[in-house]
Amino acid sequence: MKVLIIGSGGREHALAWKFSQSKDVHEIYVAPGNCGMQDVCQCVDIKATEIKKLVDFAKSKAIDLTVVGLEQALESGIVDAFKEANLRIIGPTKEAALIETSKYYAKELMKKYNIPTASYQTFTDYEEALHYVKTKGYPIVIKVDNLAAGKGVTIVNNEEEAVKTLDETLRKHKFDCKKVVIEEFLEGIEFSLMAFVKGDKVYPLELAKDHKRAFDHDLGPNTGGMGAFSPVGQIPKHIIDEAMEKIMIPCAKALVEEKRPFEGILYGGLILTKTGPKVIEFNARFGDPEIEVLLPRLKNDLFVLINDLLDGKPITLNWDDKSTIGVVLASKGYPVKYEKGVPIKNLKQLKDVTIFHMGTTIEENIIKTNGGRVLIVVSKEESIDKAREKVYEEIKKIDCENLFYRNDIGKNNK
Ligand code: AMP
Ligand code: GLY
Repeated sequence: MKVLIIGSGGREHALAWKFSQSKDVHEIYVAPGNCGMQDVCQCVDIKATEIKKLVDFAKSKAIDLTVVGLEQALESGIVDAFKEANLRIIGPTKEAALIETSKYYAKELMKKYNIPTASYQTFTDYEEALHYVKTKGYPIVIKVDNLAAGKGVTIVNNEEEAVKTLDETLRKHKFDCKKVVIEEFLEGIEFSLMAFVKGDKVYPLELAKDHKRAFDHDLGPNTGGMGAFSPVGQIPKHIIDEAMEKIMIPCAKALVEEKRPFEGILYGGLILTKTGPKVIEFNARFGDPEIEVLLPRLKNDLFVLINDLLDGKPITLNWDDKSTIGVVLASKGYPVKYEKGVPIKNLKQLKDVTIFHMGTTIEENIIKTNGGRVLIVVSKEESIDKAREKVYEEIKKIDCENLFYRNDIGKNNK
């Protein structure tokens, strides 16, 4: 069988790696992929949003299953186009993906169906938005309505910051923003609960938690994620049950009710507040870097699992009890400004960890940095403490002058 994965980062490398262990899968393609993942797949030189070309490629290769990693492809209607062409694909339609691609849509849906989330209002006008912020007080959260590569959320702590953010978004239209959602600041432990969904059937994955800030102790700017771990000992089982009952299942049912049933991976970015779990955001695909630490714990054959889901068969997910930690190595200066093309040496010397390439290239047989987030190194051990010890021990062997990483992934987070 042949699988096509859409996207280019660590998430897609991890998916290709997992499919490479499937007894039925013999060819794996990733579009566009990155050079460093070619140990387990072939890269295809088509962008994730070039939908027509992707349909033609999938037809020409007789691809049996396509998995969408990247949200921009969902927004571009890849699932609608593949289904139209009778090609098997897992992911939501453009209409169902609105749960991620429009913060406004997601908030309205949650309000209508009583799904717990931060209180909010939506604005297109700068003066009205600023007036609202002043009446509410600080901290308060300003979110760009549309996709913004993880950079569309700002927590503002005073009037000066509010003026700056609202000027950038509603006047200068940074990230093509026309609308902002302004919401209550929630406090608590954040965690990621993903689920395979088909209509109103919801099958949760184990929990994972990512670390969004660039530097140790959660300091510095928000990033695409500097590391992740699983399981998440801080979140008890009854909270997961509550999150399923009050958030994940109602969301899937609401989308059925709204005549845009969801098929694919629903990602709940949740926070455990004093009054229970609430939604920070929904995504419509696997979390990155969360899936890089979850797939090494998943015992099922991913190809069989996804096909069973698409066929409407009940699925059971089986997990390894061990703990995983993934530490991201990013280019110095990320997420703002960074160099590319710096050689990375000694990767082969790392033992008993898995390396997923997030942004690398190969020139004259030398692996080089080619993005903000470059590699994620994942360890799997009996406990989180052992996994952390192992991953940091191995990372030290990597020789590259332009990479940095956080030293506290999975720390105090058992
Ligand atoms: P998002 O891009 O929606 O995941 O938001 C990025 C980060 O901003 C989240 O992981 C949270 O840490 C923070 N955040 C977003 N919304 C809120 C909120 N309502 N209250 C507190 N923190 C938030
Ligand atoms: N780790 C957050 C995301 O995938 O959006």
